[in-house]
Amino acid sequence: VVTPGEFDLRAVAARVPLPVDLTGKRCLDVGTRDGFWAFEMERRGASEVVGIDVGDTTKHDWPLPRPVLPVTHRDALAAADMAFGVAKEALGSQAQWRDVSVYDLDPEDVGTFDVAFLGTLLTHLRDPIGALSAVRRVLRPGGVFVINEGISISLSLLRRTTPSASLMTLDAPFWWVPNRAALIRWVEAAGFECEQVGRPYLVSRGPTMDRPKLSRRNYLGNPARQLLLRAGMPHVAILARPVADRVPEV
Ligand SMILES: C[S@@+](CC[C@H](N)C(=O)[O-])C[C@H]1O[C@@H](n2cnc3c(N)ncnc32)[C@H](O)[C@@H]1O
Repeated sequence: VVTPGEFDLRAVAARVPLPVDLTGKRCLDVGTRDGFWAFEMERRGASEVVGIDVGDTTKHDWPLPRPVLPVTHRDALAAADMAFGVAKEALGSQAQWRDVSVYDLDPEDVGTFDVAFLGTLLTHLRDPIGALSAVRRVLRPGGVFVINEGISISLSLLRRTTPSASLMTLDAPFWWVPNRAALIRWVEAAGFECEQVGRPYLVSRGPTMDRPKLSRRNYLGNPARQLLLRAGMPHVAILARPVADRVPEV
């Protein structure tokens, strides 16, 4: 059974720096949606996997005033919840789906983790650094944090070392698209040390993600970008570890 998703992540699993052997590890999948990364971590031996997501789309980070959601959008998100359940049953998985916002991650509620995975989420958040800091709260010292996040290729080429981001639309929960340097800076500013940062790659669209239309309007503005986006969404993978809190000097 292959559930139709927004992204086809099967090829990506081989290239992100997620440890091959997660035997005995307690793992967190942040923004799990259909659960691809939750089930992948379980497949790699995790002893326990918790996937968190925000089921109520009105609680996503919308620009204000929040537009009324089209029914098709609500239906698509409801179908995604079912995809987690379908895959869980088909795999005989023990992974848990919890309705918790990344901002609200609290060790008293979800416990602490050896490994956290965050996939294609920061672009949906008004405060990406706040979200990354929240992940640090629930990661054990020495824990592993793996990120597979969208980036802007043009900003990454134009400004290789200067952290920069562009802002997306006003009518959807889409915010910052960072360049590679900005993504690294966000992770560092949230209290992590980046151990591995890969080169950009394209994540293929799945059946439920529309391709940009081949219209003159789309292509006249920025043809290279439109052709790239038809091929896939540029991403970068990072492996980071939490930096210990500094003890204040007395
Ligand atoms: C583009 S999907 C990525 C799904 C999956 N991680 C992947 O890699 O394919 C983004 C997911 O983040 C969820 N999300 C949005 N805001 C969130 C928040 N504040 N906390 C946790 N998840 C959130 C959305 O509901 C959606 O399922």
